[in-house]
Amino acid sequence: MDIAGQPISLPEWSPIIEDHLSSRQPIVNLASGGEGVYDAIFIGGGAAGRFGSAYLKALGGRPLVIDRWPFLGGSCPHQACVPHHLFSEAAAILDRERWLGGQLWFRACEDVRASILDVVDVFRKGRVSAHAFMNWQTKTQLEVEYILNTPARAIDPGTVEAAGQTFRTRNIVIAIGAHQNRLDLPGADLPGVFDFGTLVEDLDYDPRKCVIIGGSKVAVEYGSFFQAAGCQTTILTRSPLLRTQNLHHVDEDVRRYVVDGMRKRGVEIIEGGSPIEIKGTDRVEAVIAQGPGGETLHIDCDFVFNGVGETPNSALPAQWLGVQVGPRGEVVVDKRMRTSVANVYAAGDLIGPPMEMFKARKCGMTAARNIMGEPYEFDFSEYPDFLHTTYEMSWVGLTEDEARERYADVVVIQMPPKDIAHEDIPLPVAEGTMLYAFLKPELSGFQKCVIDGDTRRILGFHHVGYGAKDAFQYLDYLLRRPEGITIDEMGQMNELFLNPEHFIQLCRLRAGRRGLVDL
Ligand SMILES: Cc1cc2nc3c(=O)[nH]c(=O)nc-3n(C[C@H](O)[C@H](O)[C@H](O)COP(=O)(O)OP(=O)(O)OC[C@H]3O[C@@H](n4cnc5c(N)ncnc54)[C@H](O)[C@@H]3O)c2cc1C
Ligand SMILES: NC(=O)c1ccc[n+]([C@@H]2O[C@H](COP(=O)([O-])OP(=O)(O)OC[C@H]3O[C@@H](n4cnc5c(N)ncnc54)[C@H](OP(=O)(O)O)[C@@H]3O)[C@@H](O)[C@H]2O)c1
Repeated sequence: MDIAGQPISLPEWSPIIEDHLSSRQPIVNLASGGEGVYDAIFIGGGAAGRFGSAYLKALGGRPLVIDRWPFLGGSCPHQACVPHHLFSEAAAILDRERWLGGQLWFRACEDVRASILDVVDVFRKGRVSAHAFMNWQTKTQLEVEYILNTPARAIDPGTVEAAGQTFRTRNIVIAIGAHQNRLDLPGADLPGVFDFGTLVEDLDYDPRKCVIIGGSKVAVEYGSFFQAAGCQTTILTRSPLLRTQNLHHVDEDVRRYVVDGMRKRGVEIIEGGSPIEIKGTDRVEAVIAQGPGGETLHIDCDFVFNGVGETPNSALPAQWLGVQVGPRGEVVVDKRMRTSVANVYAAGDLIGPPMEMFKARKCGMTAARNIMGEPYEFDFSEYPDFLHTTYEMSWVGLTEDEARERYADVVVIQMPPKDIAHEDIPLPVAEGTMLYAFLKPELSGFQKCVIDGDTRRILGFHHVGYGAKDAFQYLDYLLRRPEGITIDEMGQMNELFLNPEHFIQLCRLRAGRRGLVDL
């Protein structure tokens, strides 16, 4: 389908994408039929490719994006972040209904359950609208050329082939993402074994009893949703939950609040356990595992969820162009996103963790800036982070333990304060926790601010609750400015009371004090 020069309205895009999901027909949006030389061809139009190409265009360059799916935006709106946020919101609502069940207008807690299949179906039916918007915006507003619904292949650093045509370019940016790691177990191919992608593509029954393998974000987020929906969930993790290599700066008090909270909600968490085999005939029936003490566990289930992480799709670029690949399967790049091959860049999940949207998008932008002659380095060794349980957990900077290893005088401001029983104090409280504060105070969340008492600089912010994630985008900036932010400056800021994180007012309570102490 050639759409160059054809105005396509936003509502017209959804049916076009729906039709192309089941066909191999390319969608072609080229100026001058793709003649001439591009400044960069982006292979992969996900977060990294879409933002990178838009930035290159904004800088006055000529980009082309090619994606094998019939839409731009990649895995995030199709299978990953967006469904995860929908499921996490459903989990938070179900969780509140269950805790408050039988009180006020809430139905009895025994009746609180949801069909996972129905929620997945809501996502399946609605996801094309995000795709439509990105195709429309990229063509109509950003004026970026693209070819969709066809894989691309780099022939050499100046030539890319797609849809039977070759294109010339000064640079290539490869941004083809990552793939879910396989469960390397007998029974891993049985019906009833899912991952984040196959869940939204293939689920056709309502699971009742689930085993999740893995112990990081995917395990915690999907496990919390399944349990909240009423599907009894066991998480089998070989490392302590949320203590994995990819997650840094997870404060131990925060971790404990979250893990205890999941257990309180009925999630069975087996730390130090390893799966041995998945058993079943027509569908999974049990996971056999080794428990933390070496014992054999037999966990009945009708659903197994794979949360063992992802590996970059580096095999193709290595085969096409011989780019260097690192020990975790990542395409090796420098801080300008340059690979080992001249004029070939890589971006996003393809270059390894952290596999997060901000990093993917900014890698694409970094490649674009360098291609357009603006030397620019992107260092993503530090960043704000978040995940969901039935709460949002957001954090940036050092944990209390990390701070104590590096600084002589560490001061902690936290809510509830140390040694106060949470049942006795309905704080922190704001949007999403008002009812808990009055009816079930210990569910109102947790927060901590870590400070260097000598310089008065804040070293880390940590929060569990609702509505604070946005603040962390800006707290990250303040914390990591060369001058950082002190407790005194924090106390000068203007809170919008009741604010989900109480960092400003809590800092203010101590700010005037010469020798800082905990609060
Ligand atoms: C379950 C889950 C939830 C997540 N939630 C969040 C979240 O809440 N927040 C967050 O920041 N991050 C989240 N992430 C991470 C985030 O989704 C990724 O970091 C991000 O999507 C990576 O973008 P990318 O452009 O590198 O890859 P992708 O978005 O995967 O894009 C790669 C693109 O390359 C295309 N492609 C592949 N091969 C070819 C080829 N040969 N030719 C042409 N095109 C090709 C694909 O079709 C795809 O569109 C989540 C991840 C998972 C798994
Ligand atoms: N921002 C968000 O909200 C969000 C949400 C979801 C996903 N993501 C991103 O998407 C990516 C994938 O997330 P993820 O949670 O699946 O992966 P992850 O963070 O890489 O964690 C993988 C988990 O699987 C375990 N594991 C790995 N191999 C295993 C094996 N063979 N057997 C048993 N356990 C194994 C790991 O345990 P060990 O620690 O013992 O190795 C770890 O607990 C991550 O980069 C993540 O940041 C982001």
